[in-house]
Amino acid sequence: MRRKRLAVLTGAGVSAESGLGTFRDSGGLWENYRVEDVASAEGWIRNPGLMLEFYNTRRRQLADVRPNAAHLAIAGLEKDFDVTVITQNVDNLHERAGSTRIIHLHGELTKVRPENCCNESDGFSEASVFDIGYGDINLGDKAPNGAQLRPHIVWFGEAVPKIEAAMDAVEKADVMLIVGTSLQVYPAAGLFRYAGIDVPIYVIDPKEVPVSDPRITHIKDVATSGMEKFVLMAAKNFE
Ligand code: OAD
Repeated sequence: MRRKRLAVLTGAGVSAESGLGTFRDSGGLWENYRVEDVASAEGWIRNPGLMLEFYNTRRRQLADVRPNAAHLAIAGLEKDFDVTVITQNVDNLHERAGSTRIIHLHGELTKVRPENCCNESDGFSEASVFDIGYGDINLGDKAPNGAQLRPHIVWFGEAVPKIEAAMDAVEKADVMLIVGTSLQVYPAAGLFRYAGIDVPIYVIDPKEVPVSDPRITHIKDVATSGMEKFVLMAAKNFE
């Protein structure tokens, strides 16, 4: 019998217990920064230095945190399921926890690229993307093609090149799990709608789920203890 396919969509809440702030909770990042200044295509044109500093700070923080029990539990699901993690997070905590198939919808903090590549004009090719680990990028840091380096992040106003791969994973899933996202940012927020009509969808979040759908079971809890509950349910219901 084939292993069941599990699509896991994660957001900032899965990394909150590692010490990375969420965006829209009280005290979240978007209370202290204007999205249009630090995470938009227009912001990059207006003030690239400010945006580089914002992501340099995020990158330095990432070096100091570790995957938590929720990331580890998600990685552990690969023992029994064919798992695809679709994350809106730009951190690398799913990788560091051991997940092997990860779609980063909004890019990756530890990667950079020239500002003039990886868009519609070159078919979103990632040939010029490279790893910088936890280091800074500054104005004047150039790629081999001579262009300014920028973070490999999807900003508001930009296309989401990985959305089709994510839709495909959700369409093929037997079970879907959503952890720690406010479901406010599209197209990620609409992904669960591509799940099959009989596919159970589990949502782990301490807040109410902002959408209503008969397929949804809400595990109203934080990611770490919510994942413990999900793992028990999965062992009982799906293996
Ligand atoms: P949000 O900050 O919008 O939502 C975080 C969610 O995590 C909320 O529903 C919280 O209730 C929940 N949460 C908080 N603590 C939690 C915990 N310990 N365990 C589980 N859940 C918890 O973050 P996202 O939905 O990820 O995009 O935001 C989506 C996108 O908006 C981000 O990828 C980013 C942002 O603007 C870009 O920058 C392009």
